[in-house]
Amino acid sequence: MTAPTVAQRGPYMIDVEKGKTYYWCRCGLSRKQPLCDGSHKSTDLAPLAYVAMETTTVAMCGCKQSKSKPLCDGSHNSL
Ligand code: FES
Repeated sequence: MTAPTVAQRGPYMIDVEKGKTYYWCRCGLSRKQPLCDGSHKSTDLAPLAYVAMETTTVAMCGCKQSKSKPLCDGSHNSL
């Protein structure tokens, strides 16, 4: 399995809308971080679907190491 690329050593804060689905970039190669732009096609990784439970701002993982994907769990602090 391809190891994901660290896109950023910290989360991306993005506004999400209740009920809307977002595709979080798992591979780290997207130029539209933290969301998928199709760049994973050169890997064996695929995006992770995330449905927003409310309209709010969330911290999406940028280092791709979080155990709470797609949300940040502070794993970037140990890189
Ligand atoms: S571009 Fe990274 S998962 Fe799609």
